[in-house]
Amino acid sequence: MEKVMDRKSFVVVLVHWYLSLATIICMFTYGYGNPNALCRKREREALLTFKQGITDPSNQLTSWIGEECCMWKGIGCDNITGHVIRLNLTKSNGPASDKLGGVISDSLLKLENLQYLDLSSNSFEDNHFPSFFGYFRNLRFLNLSDVGFRSSTANPYQLGNLSNLHSLDIQGLFLNIDNLEWLSHLSLLEFLDMSEIDLSKTSASLQVPIQGAFQNMSALRHLYLRGTNFSYSIPNWLYNMTTLERLDLSNNHIQGVLPSAFGRLSQLMYLDLSNNSLEGKLPRFLGNLCNLQHLDLSYNKLNGGAVYELLGNSSACSAPSLEFLNLATNKLSGVVPPWFWNHSSQMSFLDLSDNNFHGSITSLSCGVEVYLGSNNFSGPLPNISSTIRYLDLSNNLFSGFSTAFCEDLVVHDLSFLDLSRNLLSGEIPDCWMFNYVLLEELYLGNNKLTGNIPSSIGSIPSLLSLSLHKNNLEGNLPLSMENQTAIELLDLSENHFSGILPLWFGKSLFTLMVLVLRSNNFSGGLPQELCRQTQLQILDVSSNNFSGSIPRCFGNFTAMVRPAYGNRIFDFIPPKGGFSQSTFLVRNGMEYEYRNILALVTSMDLSSNNLIGEIPEELTNLYGLLLLNLSNNQLHGKIPEKINAMKLLESLDVSMNQLIGVIPQGMASLTFLSHLNLSYNNFSGRIPSSTQLQSFTGLSFIGNHDLCGPPLTPSCIGDDTPPEPTTPNFDDKGGEHDGGWIDMKWFYISMPLGFVVGFWGVFAPLALNKAWRSVYFKFFDDMKYRLAL
Ligand SMILES: *[C@@H]1O[C@H](CO)[C@@H](O)[C@H](O)[C@H]1NC(C)=O
Ligand SMILES: *[C@@H]1O[C@H](CO)[C@@H](O)[C@H](O)[C@H]1NC(C)=O
Ligand SMILES: *[C@@H]1O[C@H](CO)[C@@H](O)[C@H](O)[C@H]1NC(C)=O
Ligand SMILES: *[C@@H]1O[C@H](CO)[C@@H](O)[C@H](O)[C@H]1NC(C)=O
Ligand SMILES: *[C@@H]1O[C@H](CO)[C@@H](O)[C@H](O)[C@H]1NC(C)=O
Ligand SMILES: *[C@@H]1O[C@H](CO)[C@@H](O)[C@H](O)[C@H]1NC(C)=O
Ligand SMILES: *[C@@H]1O[C@H](CO)[C@@H](O)[C@H](O)[C@H]1NC(C)=O
Ligand SMILES: *[C@@H]1O[C@H](CO)[C@@H](O)[C@H](O)[C@H]1NC(C)=O
Repeated sequence: MEKVMDRKSFVVVLVHWYLSLATIICMFTYGYGNPNALCRKREREALLTFKQGITDPSNQLTSWIGEECCMWKGIGCDNITGHVIRLNLTKSNGPASDKLGGVISDSLLKLENLQYLDLSSNSFEDNHFPSFFGYFRNLRFLNLSDVGFRSSTANPYQLGNLSNLHSLDIQGLFLNIDNLEWLSHLSLLEFLDMSEIDLSKTSASLQVPIQGAFQNMSALRHLYLRGTNFSYSIPNWLYNMTTLERLDLSNNHIQGVLPSAFGRLSQLMYLDLSNNSLEGKLPRFLGNLCNLQHLDLSYNKLNGGAVYELLGNSSACSAPSLEFLNLATNKLSGVVPPWFWNHSSQMSFLDLSDNNFHGSITSLSCGVEVYLGSNNFSGPLPNISSTIRYLDLSNNLFSGFSTAFCEDLVVHDLSFLDLSRNLLSGEIPDCWMFNYVLLEELYLGNNKLTGNIPSSIGSIPSLLSLSLHKNNLEGNLPLSMENQTAIELLDLSENHFSGILPLWFGKSLFTLMVLVLRSNNFSGGLPQELCRQTQLQILDVSSNNFSGSIPRCFGNFTAMVRPAYGNRIFDFIPPKGGFSQSTFLVRNGMEYEYRNILALVTSMDLSSNNLIGEIPEELTNLYGLLLLNLSNNQLHGKIPEKINAMKLLESLDVSMNQLIGVIPQGMASLTFLSHLNLSYNNFSGRIPSSTQLQSFTGLSFIGNHDLCGPPLTPSCIGDDTPPEPTTPNFDDKGGEHDGGWIDMKWFYISMPLGFVVGFWGVFAPLALNKAWRSVYFKFFDDMKYRLAL
């Protein structure tokens, strides 16, 4: 019995002993006053004070609890002294909602040993530039890129005290800098990015101080001064920075020629001088920069010949190193010699577009992306290497497909090919299906092609866009087109195609957004099957021989029901030239090219056919439609009363039909309507009136002899007083004009106010979206141009 008790108490003691030991260990590890925590108390408290000032919407600093601050997220300590040496809170690759904000506390100064500080891509709008950063004397790396400090008066001069700094990135900060003296103390810098900071005030004291600022930086390897309002010629101090590997001076106002002293920068790998005002020829020394991989001189005023200076035979380098060459939009000219194309196989990006280069090209061995558009290249189309994925040869003088186009056994995974606006003649070769497997966009418009559509184009299943606009093509559409199950844009306008619209338009293809068949000889009825194209937002079948009535189901095009924007065309940023989704449409009798903006346009053009019957009331369901043209058919009956439901309608043309009856009064409420053509019908009664109607640019009633009221006549018979222009007041029995009939052919008011106001009202929300903004403004510019016509 005693023995048992003994054993029992032994176990109890043992358990107690173990528990006590565990508690002690736990206390040491996690507990209060842990003497073994690496983190220093003073620095931990400084970090907690900092944390208190910070707003942290997605709770990223939740790990900032407990004693061991060296284990906290974003913190790094010296593992011997325990001092915090790194603070990395960058949000470069997180969603915008993760960004930290609030106030940066100067308690951080207690981290005296800090060497690495990265707060980039956060959102510290409430802070001025924290000048106390100038006291982090041990700092070697500082990244404040895009932290959103907001102040018109702050300057970073205190950073001149950080004499140990190796890397300084203050890209995109709002700073008021009028001298660069402070930079001269940072003689150890290897990396400096001051892009998108306005340095124009430093130019008051021009070369001398700026030279002083940089002359001590004998270790600088990366210098980024993009978009700094730099307006000097290339500053002399640059030529002494022989350690430079990457230099970006793009988007400035740099003038003059590139001096040969540039050739001293023999370590250069990356040089971007695009979007400046550089003049003169391409300098020879470029051929001697044997490490150069990326050269961008686009958007300057360079002239003269000689791309060969870059890859030249005369080059001092053993092998050409360029992988990226962009000379687009200059005034360069001359023949590009064959060996240039042969020597460029290492290049993955080549852009010579928008210059005056000429000569023929037998084969293109270079690249993944090759843009040679808008030059004067001639001869047959070149043989192209199988590596090319985007090829733009548009707007040149190429005359035909080379024989090699089909014989070469290479399988291409081209995804974009633009051959439009050349002199291509003859038939389109019939080998696409086999050789050009991944083709997604094919533009052959504005050439002189003849014959039928080859069945091999018809059957490329991955084709998204096909434009054959303005050629001399003829015949029926090949049956093989029913295999194009992905196609979004089909533009066959201005050719001689004939036959009926195949029923497969509604059987296999459901992806069409744009169908343009204008100016061909298609005949027969408009098939009901078309209505199954619910993505369709642009339908243009004008100037053909279509007959029969307008199918009622045309009111079912759902993409024309909702407002046009929001379609997936804009869900991706197109590569240069790629996915341009270009088509040509007629507005007010003029043809316009729509590029990249298709998602903003909804349009139905059935004009100039032999359509009969009434305008189906279902069409008024399309209240996202901007443009509707039913002109020049044999439609009869009335304009549907519900037309006022088409709130976004901007242009309505029903001229040259046999429409009768009164013009629906509700049209006066279509606030965006800027063009209304009711001419050559048999309308009667009062013209609807409103201030809105009076501000039209294009309003035409000609050839309806029974209309009355302003602007044609002062009043309708039976009116006591002329109607108030803003009060809809329709007289059903109207229809006789008084003796004061004025044959007013056009009624124009020069200010298209209604349109401008209306358009902004609808699309202004778009302007908030950064990605769409440029597209949108281009569109608006285009609109202004059109309004001015
Ligand atoms: C301290 O850190 C250095 C560098 O990170 C490492 O090489 C070293 O092994 C560490 N020392 C200890 C004791 O952990
Ligand atoms: C800084 O933190 C980010 C995100 O936590 C991380 O991706 C990055 O590698 C860190 N940088 C360094 C140099 O530790
Ligand atoms: C600074 O941060 C930005 C954004 O987080 C990043 O793109 C950039 O490369 C960083 N600079 C350096 C020198 O690491
Ligand atoms: C360049 O560095 C030297 C020594 O490091 C220093 O004395 C001089 O003032 C610096 N130059 C400028 C312009 O600050
Ligand atoms: C299409 O239109 C027809 C006729 O207007 C209608 O009966 C049918 O319900 C519509 N279909 C859809 C899916 O909206
Ligand atoms: C409507 O189409 C006709 C003929 O196709 C054309 O002449 C007219 O300009 C078009 N109307 C508008 C407003 O674009
Ligand atoms: C226009 O309508 C009137 C009567 O309303 C009719 O006499 C005339 O024939 C019609 N003209 C046309 C071209 O339809
Ligand atoms: C209205 O249509 C007629 C016939 O189609 C045309 O002649 C006239 O130019 C058009 N008016 C306007 C303002 O476009």
